[in-house]
Amino acid sequence: MAAARNKQIRHPLFARVYPRINAFAEAHGALEHRRELLAGATGRIVEIGAGSGANFRHYPPEVEQVIAIEPEPRLRALAERAAADCPVPVEIRAGRAEALPVPDASVDGVVASLVLCSIADVPATLAEAARVLRPGGYLYFYEHIRSTRPALARRQRIVNVVWPLLGGGCNLTRNPEPAITAAGFTIERARHFDFLINSRTTPSSPCVIGVARKASSPAE
Ligand SMILES: C[S@@+](CC[C@H](N)C(=O)[O-])C[C@H]1O[C@@H](n2cnc3c(N)ncnc32)[C@H](O)[C@@H]1O
Repeated sequence: MAAARNKQIRHPLFARVYPRINAFAEAHGALEHRRELLAGATGRIVEIGAGSGANFRHYPPEVEQVIAIEPEPRLRALAERAAADCPVPVEIRAGRAEALPVPDASVDGVVASLVLCSIADVPATLAEAARVLRPGGYLYFYEHIRSTRPALARRQRIVNVVWPLLGGGCNLTRNPEPAITAAGFTIERARHFDFLINSRTTPSSPCVIGVARKASSPAE
């Protein structure tokens, strides 16, 4: 709880290298993934763990406003810069996904992109996403996930001994979809794929891009 109240998370080394990692990933396909993730977004959006703001330029014109939450100061400063140069209004707020600085039922969409792998408390984050969404609102997610193939899953477990230390707390072994369902969302669409780099599988290749909906009424 104390951790959730503290808005800052410091990963200075990761924050320095992440823009380069992201540029490499985008050159190999992540740019299209971001467009796919955000294609149907409309209205007011909260983006959790927005990082350097790599999604901002891909929001479609149907999006009225983005509130981007980022706890890491260096990444938040980069997000401020990205926000100044994007087609929709973006407001950057310090904060954690587990305690969003956003009122109840106030937004149409929540965006989680390459972030449920890093957040300390995923159930609390998804409960917060459900709290801030209006009834019938949408959770848009793009995540790398645990492989369903035993050999690759084993490789992920081994690499994951050091991966979080190098990757700002990122984990290779998470499976966000059951957590999304457990938080009361209905997954309406989920495309599973291998994000290959130069035709090769990496430990973060298994990915999902999807949309989940919050119930329109408590009875639904
Ligand atoms: C791999 S980066 C992804 C950044 C961005 N979402 C993107 O798509 O490029 C993971 C992000 O999660 C953020 N993060 C880590 N823990 C968090 C938390 N508890 N609440 C919100 N964001 C968090 C990190 O600061 C970082 O910006």
